[in-house]
Amino acid sequence: MSGEPAQLDTTAQGDGAPIVELRDVSKQFGKLVVLRDVNMKFRKGETTVIIGASGAGKSVILKHIVSLLKPDSGEVYCAGERIDTMTDRELVHLRKRFGFLFQMGALFDSFTVAENVAFPIVEHTRRSKSNIAKTVAEKLAMVGLDGLQEKKPAQLSGGQRKRVGLARAIALDPEIILYDEPTTGLDPIRSDVINELIIKLQRELNVTSVVVTHDMASVRKIGDRVVMLHEGEFIFDGTPKDMETSDNKTVRQFVEGRAADEQLAGIRLKGKP
Ligand SMILES: Nc1ncnc2c1ncn2[C@@H]1O[C@H](COP(=O)(O)OP(=O)(O)OP(=O)(O)O)[C@@H](O)[C@H]1O
Ligand SMILES: [Mg+2]
Repeated sequence: MSGEPAQLDTTAQGDGAPIVELRDVSKQFGKLVVLRDVNMKFRKGETTVIIGASGAGKSVILKHIVSLLKPDSGEVYCAGERIDTMTDRELVHLRKRFGFLFQMGALFDSFTVAENVAFPIVEHTRRSKSNIAKTVAEKLAMVGLDGLQEKKPAQLSGGQRKRVGLARAIALDPEIILYDEPTTGLDPIRSDVINELIIKLQRELNVTSVVVTHDMASVRKIGDRVVMLHEGEFIFDGTPKDMETSDNKTVRQFVEGRAADEQLAGIRLKGKP
């Protein structure tokens, strides 16, 4: 992919069935245009990684997928059903199929770890206390935290909180998991544990994943597909390998972690070119 950023025809990619689709989605907050006629299909069983600068609209995309935000215009589909026009009540059965790992963890501070992980189960099912406790222990074991059930979020490290958020996201065995920066703030070993977990969930449960990340090691490791959001549009769509060899300037800067000259204006050291 080369040349100037242009809206891509993402409809022609791959042959997996789309499970989530954004059609001509536009969104602005006041005067700030965040998404401009965005089209994107997320295919079943695939891990799609969304990259893009801070403020590009990556979290806004995830929130449209679960209808926490509604588009100003355009349509959002999940498993063939149009969801952007659904009421919260109509969305309940669909939201059960999603796991969402929020960027900030979003744990309930007054709840214990166990209560946090149990929250979606209590909300959506009528399972017994002992059955819930068993699932909570299982999910905590998956993220390496079994035994911390009675702790409060404030007693945990940032990385542990993130993993509690992940245990909660997978509590109901969702078909689709949205991860908003799952490895940000974690050390490389913990990041790798999360990456392995994302891969394991996809392989063993055929989960469809959409992962927002700035972590290039994660992109390379977990991504079947990488898409890049820039100035309200997707300007890249390909495999991690395609990303490495892309000659698109914006993609290259991101992959190489290099700032553009205009972004460096005024902060160059005196005497340096
Ligand atoms: N509810 C909202 N109300 C007003 N502005 C919003 C809202 N949500 C997001 N924005 C704005 O939309 C833009 C995109 O936000 P978003 O959170 O999607 O960025 P991002 O790509 O996830 O960035 P980061 O990598 O820093 O998390 C930002 O300028 C943000 O301030
Ligand atoms: Mg974000």
